[in-house]
Amino acid sequence: MRDSFGRSVTYLRVSVTDRCDFRCVYCMAEEMTFLPRANLLSLEEMERLCTAFINLGTRKIRITGGEPLVRRGVMTLFDGLGARIGTGLDELTLTTNASQLARHAEALRAAGVRRVNVSLDTLDPQLFTRLTRRGRIERVLEGIFAARAAGLAVKINTVALKDVNEDTIGDLLTWCGRFGFDLCLIEAMPLGETGADRIDQYVPLSLVQARLNRHWTLTESAYRTGGPARYYNVAETGQRIGFITPMTHNFCESCNRVRLTCTGTLFLCLGQEDSVDLRQVLRDGASDAELAAAIEAAIARKPKGHDFVVDRPHAAPALGRHMSVTGG
Ligand code: 5AD
Ligand code: SF4
Repeated sequence: MRDSFGRSVTYLRVSVTDRCDFRCVYCMAEEMTFLPRANLLSLEEMERLCTAFINLGTRKIRITGGEPLVRRGVMTLFDGLGARIGTGLDELTLTTNASQLARHAEALRAAGVRRVNVSLDTLDPQLFTRLTRRGRIERVLEGIFAARAAGLAVKINTVALKDVNEDTIGDLLTWCGRFGFDLCLIEAMPLGETGADRIDQYVPLSLVQARLNRHWTLTESAYRTGGPARYYNVAETGQRIGFITPMTHNFCESCNRVRLTCTGTLFLCLGQEDSVDLRQVLRDGASDAELAAAIEAAIARKPKGHDFVVDRPHAAPALGRHMSVTGG
């Protein structure tokens, strides 16, 4: 599938739930109103949509949320999609907060998952609980090590937060090096109302990287995972560090992704409102050919890029919807 700017769209991110057992300060508000369950696609509907995407050339699917592992029965979706690996699909991956990963690691591996991204912003137990507003780091670490033991490659995703975890990124780098995990830093994006001032949270990764350069030897790497991160080799640990910079660098030119929400809305861009309601198409009884046509028509409408602006005059979100709706 090609969009109108010639980008080939081969990567689908699927949010299976907007719910989460954490309330990370940059992601959610303390009090969240989640979608009524009746609005959600069933797992069978999700699998049908994913299959349609695979048949149209999607090579990589990432399951996200919210926290995907809080969705009841979600392993049946992993099993179903895992069966397409090698017959259309190259890779099935997961983004998780790891709170339930210990229970699911073996089954994920058996379904064909080989890599997981774990969101972890600090190794400090108190700060962890403060940032997630309720999480316990012990369970998360247990999940991470269960994944490692099950033979899953673990990448740690860390949102860089000004004055909060900036100083602890070196510790994360050391820890990741010790256990063989890649680390990926992300700039905080202004998505959804969280009750916090976004300008206060935002720190450009160029600054973080400049600070890391004082103690670490980072050399640019050609490594890519199909996502937006740019990687560097860390000479001291032999691992990689990635930087995802939606705010300071426009990463849109090479965008190969679209996002399906848990209600069946296809967002063509993380930072734009353009969307298509595929649930309606499904529930109107579309044939496979009609569904494929609806998806192709949607892809043709993929916008050129987001327009998050770093120095917006106020601290309000650029978009009303939270990351947990669109899929992280
Ligand atoms: N800005 C940047 N990253 C975010 N995430 C959630 N909300 C935001 C935001 N506003 C991250 C999570 C997780 C991934 C799914 O997205 O930390 O790593
Ligand atoms: Fe949950 Fe992830 Fe959002 Fe944190 S960032 S509240 S773990 S969905």
